[in-house]
Amino acid sequence: MPLEEDLRKKAFEAQSRAYAPYSHFPVGACLLAEDGSFFTGCNVENASFGGTVCAERVAIYHMVVGGGRRFSTLYVYSESASLPCGLCLQVMGEFAPREARVITGDGTGSKRVITLGELLPVPFSFSKDT
Ligand code: THU
Repeated sequence: MPLEEDLRKKAFEAQSRAYAPYSHFPVGACLLAEDGSFFTGCNVENASFGGTVCAERVAIYHMVVGGGRRFSTLYVYSESASLPCGLCLQVMGEFAPREARVITGDGTGSKRVITLGELLPVPFSFSKDT
């Protein structure tokens, strides 16, 4: 699928710009916003580890500052095709529907596609019934 290939390439490029001197685990992400634009992110670590930001959240915050508020697909690229962490899932839930697709990939070409709702079936919400 050409769109998925675009996402993979951009996430791969973003991974090359990761700042990960502590974990040595560079991650790249690329999302497709609802208006068709792409936004990328990489992980940015800090000597005070709690200051680290994951690639997925950087991509989402890029989208927000670019004027976007919703995305449909997010591709995460790492050497182990790792899934997003719980904090990133909660942040994704703010800006994507349950049906949004999360795709994880690595250098081998293998990938996994899973929805946000499957990864985080019951997110935190202020409301009791959502
Ligand atoms: N990391 C991400 O960027 N995305 C994830 O989904 C999980 C973890 C980063 C955070 C940290 O810089 C490194 O990977 C190791 O945890």
